[in-house]
This record gives sequence, C-alpha cells and structure tokens, in this order.
Amino acid sequence: MTERAYSRADLGGPIPDAHFIAGQWCKSADGRTFETIDPSSEQVLAKVARGNASDIDKAVEAAHRAQRGDWRDVSPAERGRLIFKLADMLEMDAERFALLETLDVGKPVREALGDVRGVCATLRYNAGAADKMEGQTVPLGRDFVDFTMLEPVGITAHIVPWNYPLGMVARSVAPALAAGCTAVIKPAEQSPLTALAFAELCQRAGFPDGVVNVVAGFGEDAGAALVSHPLVRGITFTGSVATGRKIYSGAALGLKPVVLELGGKNPMIVFEDADLERAAFDALDGCFGNSGQVCSSSSRFLLHRSIRDEFLDRLAEGAAKLTVGRGLDNCDLGPLVSQEQYAKVRSYIEEGSRAGAKLRLGGGSPRGLDAGYFVEPTIFDAVDPASALAREEIFGPVAVALSFDAPDEALDMANGLDFGLVAGVYSRDISRALSFARDIEAGSVWINGWFIGGAQAPTGGIKDSGIGRERGLPGIRNYLSTKNIGIRL
Ligand code: NAI
Ligand code: MG
Repeated sequence: MTERAYSRADLGGPIPDAHFIAGQWCKSADGRTFETIDPSSEQVLAKVARGNASDIDKAVEAAHRAQRGDWRDVSPAERGRLIFKLADMLEMDAERFALLETLDVGKPVREALGDVRGVCATLRYNAGAADKMEGQTVPLGRDFVDFTMLEPVGITAHIVPWNYPLGMVARSVAPALAAGCTAVIKPAEQSPLTALAFAELCQRAGFPDGVVNVVAGFGEDAGAALVSHPLVRGITFTGSVATGRKIYSGAALGLKPVVLELGGKNPMIVFEDADLERAAFDALDGCFGNSGQVCSSSSRFLLHRSIRDEFLDRLAEGAAKLTVGRGLDNCDLGPLVSQEQYAKVRSYIEEGSRAGAKLRLGGGSPRGLDAGYFVEPTIFDAVDPASALAREEIFGPVAVALSFDAPDEALDMANGLDFGLVAGVYSRDISRALSFARDIEAGSVWINGWFIGGAQAPTGGIKDSGIGRERGLPGIRNYLSTKNIGIRL
C-alpha cells in the first residue's frame, strides 16, 4: 500500500469538467458551470458543466437509444465480460481515480485507493452474476406451461452523494448494467469528478455509447429533472432523509420504483462481557473513518455502565493518535467535504457542549492548518439521550456515548430513533447477541465486528433509513422486471 504524500501533479492528466453523454464529453446546453473545490485548501479545482433539464433530456434520450439499440443485443454473458474488463481497466487506473477523489472530497489517498479496490470488487461480483439471473417455471397444472422471464427495467437514474462518490456510483450502476439497463448518473455537486471519469472509462472498455451517461450539477435542477423524466424507469438514491422524501414524492407521480438509502444513527452496543480491545479498535474506524462521513458509521455508542470508562479510555487513546490533515499527505482524517458540512458538524459540537454533554476528546479544529474544513476526532460522553447530539445524524468525526444498565434499556435506546440502517452488538454471549440481532430494528446487524459485508451482502435501511436493498443478488433484482408468460397446451 502506498503511503507517500502526493501532489496534484501526480494526477498526470486533466480534471474532467464536462458532462459525459452518448459517449462524448459535452458542455451544458446553456453554457453554465459550477466550481468544485478541494476541501483541504478551499481552492477551486475545476469549473464543471452545470446541467439542467435540457442536459438531462439529452442524456436520457441517449440512454433510450442505447436501450433500444446496441445494448439490447449484447448477451448477458457479454455484458458480464464488459464489466470484468471495466474492473481490470479501473484497477490499472486506480491511482488516478483515487487522486481525483482525494482532491475533490479530501479523503486520504490510502482510503481513496481502498474505495477503488472496493469498486473493482463490486464490478466483478455483478459481472459474474450477469448471466446467472434466472426466471422460474410456475406450476399451473397439466394444461399449461407458465414461466417468468427477467427483463431489464430500462433506463435507470442514479443520484449519488459525496461521501463515497465513486463507490456509490458503482454500488448501483454495476448491478444495473449487469441486468441490462442503461444509466444516467447525477453525482453530487460537491464531488462530480470520479463519476465523470468513470463514464469515460466505460466507453473505453467498450460499452456502447449512451449506456452510461453522467450529468453533473445540482439536485434541485439536474437531479429533480432526472427523477421526473418520463423515460426513466427506476431511481436509486443515497443521501439525506429530506431529499429522499422529495425524490420518493417525485417518483410517486411517475409511478417509478425507488431504492433509497438515507443514512442512520447507528448504535454500537457494547456489553460487559465484550472483547473491549476488539470493540474499541473497531469503533475507531467505525466513527472516525472517512472523517465520520459514513451512513453506516458507529455514530452512537451504547455502553454497559461497568465498561463505559475502560471502553472510552481505549477509544480516546486511539483517537488522540490520529492525524488530521490533507488527504494528499495521507493523514488519518481528511477535511469534511464542504463548508456546509463543516458548519453542520461544528454546530452539533457546540450544541452538545451547551446541552451539558461531557467532552472527552477533541471538539476543536486542529492547529497549524489555516485553510480547509478540518475537525478533530471528538468524543462526547454522558450525552442526554433526548438531545440532538444523541438523535440526529451528524456525519462528522464525532463519537457520542450513552450508558445503560439493563439489556432492555439498551434495546429501547437502539430502537428509539426513526433511523434503522445498521446496529452492532459486542458480547461473548452469542445467544444474547443473536436475540439482539433478532429484536433490533435495522437493515443490518453486525456482531463482534463493524463494517461487515461487501459486494455480496445486501444492505439498506428500514424506517427513515430507506427503502429497498442494494448489493448482493437483491441489488441486481432492483433492475430486473418479472414478465410472466403463460401457454395453454
Ligand atoms: P442530499 O441528500 O441533499 O444530496 C445527495 C444527492 O441528492 C446529491 O447528488 C444532490 O445533488 C441530490 N439532490 C438534492 N436535492 C435533490 C432533489 N430535490 N432532487 C434530486 N436530487 C437531489 O445531501 P447533502 O445536502 O449533500 O447532505 C446533507 C446530509 O445528508 C449530510 O449531512 C448527511 O447527514 C446526509 N447524507 C447521507 C448520506 C448517506 O450515505 N446516506 C450521504 C450524503 C449525505
Ligand atoms: Mg469538491
């Protein structure tokens, strides 16, 4: 693993700054652009085409032509072969993609390279499944033959957030391509670069023009136009609850299926019999990895009172050693993605202190960095369970600890919010851990580990954390429609 410091010159090529539609770079119809910035320096990286409804229309029309034309004739096995080739090409180009990501969102190059490896794994999983999605025969009796065929749903929209810009593109676009769909991607306005580079790579890998299109721009113009476009047949979104509600409403008008992943406030429950070294080690990455900008972060620690101090001491000891700085320098924590996100996280920290939570570590901005949206790893203890700090998604490097005495109390706290994405249980008593797994309201439950999963394991939320599942075979089924064929003999 490369651990050296990088500079922008290591990119070795231009920064993509135009939409990618029908196999070509193109400017916005109205010529508008927006600035994408490097959050570690607050400098403008590039002026990128800012799409609106007419650019979306052009991209959807390109996808429509591909869906009805060249792409329809590509067999499932051949689709798989193309996706495998794309993974190989991305692997060869990993450093360029990682540097684009680091420049655009600030994360350490080491993490960005890890993201690219994850994307290659996602591509390969879906590539291998492309020719294995099978229909069924249905027993109607002697006089009939009845069977189902799985067909691509058609043109799919992918509205993507900024915390794992390339990873979130691949999570939904890889299964859509495996299923035989076409894609129009709207990356987040904070992080358009790797999605644009990805679309061009698809074209070089041999996907027909129009199969993968990217329109850069903002949610309220490009994003909303994509959701409401009449030719779009399915929408996948990851982001905030508020935007998820808007997208779901827009999709309802067009009667379009959605997959929504809307974040969480995920409890990590640590019992008195847990392996504390393991739990604290996992917690460090769970709540400070990607500077806490992770939907499945371990953002809420529910600690048995008897081990609370030992757990928090261990966590604080590890967190105090984490370095904060530019992603190019491969520090442990990069900056937050934007001024807005920085202001949001700072206001939670200030409100937490005001509301009487005990600050165990951090809370400030690191010294010696005069620009950039940096926040120190921060740990709050004795947090009021009713406070915003304890209930809302912060999306920053802020650990929030609450204590419990009885297991029922832990379960009530775990289930007491409107979120239900992920929960974790640390205990050496497997029976207790599994009964918690049964009773916890979440799409995923992890036992004695955090961030368990990968391209194979379905993920998604219940309650306000979303609708539908991504990854695994269910992730491909999102992009397949069942057709029933009945024959009278
Ligand atoms: P957001 O949900 O507004 O943005 C995510 C994506 O949705 C972006 O591509 C954006 O352009 C698009 N979008 C926004 N409004 C839209 C609309 N009306 N129609 C169609 N597309 C639209 O999230 P934002 O404002 O960047 O972050 C706010 C908070 O959301 C964060 O602080 C965090 O708590 C949460 N979040 C959760 C994520 C997750 O992984 N679940 C990822 C990013 C943010
Ligand atoms: Mg940026």
